[in-house]
Amino acid sequence: MKRNFLTMTDLGQHELAGLLRQAARHKRNRSYGKRALAGKTVALVFQKPSMRTRVAFEVAVLQLGGSVVYLGQEDIQLGQREPVRDVARALSRYVDGIVVRTFAHQNAVEFAAYARVPVINGLSDLVHPCQALADLFTLQEAFGRLPGLRVAYVGDGNNVLHSLLEGCALFGVHAAVATPARYRPDPAIWKAASRRAAAHGGSLRWEADPRRVVRDAHVVYTDVWISMGQERERARRLRTFKRYQLNRALLRRAPRGCRIMHCLPAHRGEEITDDVMEHPRSLIFDQAENRLHVQKALLMLLLGGKGSR
Ligand code: CP
Ligand code: NVA
Repeated sequence: MKRNFLTMTDLGQHELAGLLRQAARHKRNRSYGKRALAGKTVALVFQKPSMRTRVAFEVAVLQLGGSVVYLGQEDIQLGQREPVRDVARALSRYVDGIVVRTFAHQNAVEFAAYARVPVINGLSDLVHPCQALADLFTLQEAFGRLPGLRVAYVGDGNNVLHSLLEGCALFGVHAAVATPARYRPDPAIWKAASRRAAAHGGSLRWEADPRRVVRDAHVVYTDVWISMGQERERARRLRTFKRYQLNRALLRRAPRGCRIMHCLPAHRGEEITDDVMEHPRSLIFDQAENRLHVQKALLMLLLGGKGSR
């Protein structure tokens, strides 16, 4: 049976732990799995712009011996030129796996339901699970463990946060989240992640005041205030999020040694200041690099087949 990766919950805790171990192998040895996707083709169907996700997937497939077809919005016009289900079914006849970056998460769900090859979510308005894989890997690499870590997230309760929460919940990480009240994370995701966190020794906590979540944090994470597709809300969001900026003043309230994370792209001067972006304790560009290693591990898990190494 083909497997999809639409949200972090599509993989169990053991599988995710195994995937992180495999990612470490890929990071140590660039040639690891170099024939794993030999003769296979992966399509990238992207409705929104991308640098990291696109390049990391393209390079990952090439390093695993496969080939890639990139289809941007102008090529496919997902849901406009023809229905999502027809694109999914026709494309499945040509390629061995599909990465979808879409606005409505429901498009990714429909894509996966109709495609007969594995579908990977390369970001939707609801979640960004490939980013969370890299985030967990980066945390484990920086701290040597995941259980017991305290991650503070400051800013918008968005797709990146949702997947981060789902990931942290499986590994006993304590997540403390500060967002404006009307931009809290999705209630269903929050509830499920809280339950899972409790079962794995972690916890979730929400505060309105960013100063309260950073004070015992091992790492502070932020993301843009205006995600792709929200450009019309720009003025209101800039006003509402102003006090959630990750800047020196906020960082001074965190323990010494606290690390900094951001999925990128960053809007410097909005959710994060220039000096914090350039801070020596930043993990931001490790996160970006690690997208490649975790995505190689993910591709091998979903598309590699037995004996592919
Ligand atoms: N972090 C991330 O997904 O970046 P891109 O939008 O450039 O792919
Ligand atoms: N929250 C951002 C993440 C970009 C990688 C967005 O959806 O635009």
